[in-house]
Amino acid sequence: MNATVEFYPPLSRFVCVWALMVMLMTTGQLFADPDQLATLRKGSISEEADPPRMMTAENKDIKRKRNYPMQPPIIPHKIEHYTVNLNANKCLTCHSRRHTGDSQAPMVSVTHYMDRDGNFLAEVSPRRYFCNQCHVPQVDTNPLVVNDFKDVDTLLKSQ
Ligand code: HEC
Ligand code: HEC
Repeated sequence: MNATVEFYPPLSRFVCVWALMVMLMTTGQLFADPDQLATLRKGSISEEADPPRMMTAENKDIKRKRNYPMQPPIIPHKIEHYTVNLNANKCLTCHSRRHTGDSQAPMVSVTHYMDRDGNFLAEVSPRRYFCNQCHVPQVDTNPLVVNDFKDVDTLLKSQ
């Protein structure tokens, strides 16, 4: 197989890229009318609208069902002012193995003590340190966008 590969000389390549940029910029200007853009902020992007009120997080202390076995459980309590940074982790003062005796909170599961090679560590693994990467509190409100997520039970039933 002898395929011939044609290389554009540098100058014409530059002209092509330049023409493409001009095209993109002009079409952008033609179509991007700020009032027409459907944004989640529900208003023109050229105006500074009053932000919606902050919602109060659910604080019922009732665990929710998980939608599939590996789902990080959602947080059934408020986490306002719970600092998680280099020096402090408020979550671990209740949820780490060492503190569950006093706090009666569920212990972070053993996966939180595993490194990426599956070795068990004595302390919570750095990759599980920033809890809010995976766990989030909930608010009682309408979803901002349509969501057609199906939980694993619905999928099993539909088979
Ligand atoms: C003062 C103690 C305390 C602190 C601090 C705390 N929790 Fe909790 N957490 C609990 C208790 C107790 C429960 C059991 C349900 C309940 O009572 O709310 C719980 C439940 C949970 C659950 C649900 C577990 C499941 O199986 O459904 C998650 C997830 C969780 N917490 C994450 C966090 C994260 C993330 C933070 C930090 C931002 C945090 N918690 C800080 C005490 C605490
Ligand atoms: C990378 C994502 C991730 C991070 C970061 C993370 N978790 Fe989890 N967590 C999970 C997943 C996934 C589960 C459910 C499966 C499992 O147990 O591994 C879980 C389970 C839990 C549970 C329920 C344990 C049980 O046995 O019922 C608690 C409590 C919890 N996490 C708390 C925390 C706290 C506190 C932190 C921060 C120190 C944290 N998690 C950080 C993903 C994460």
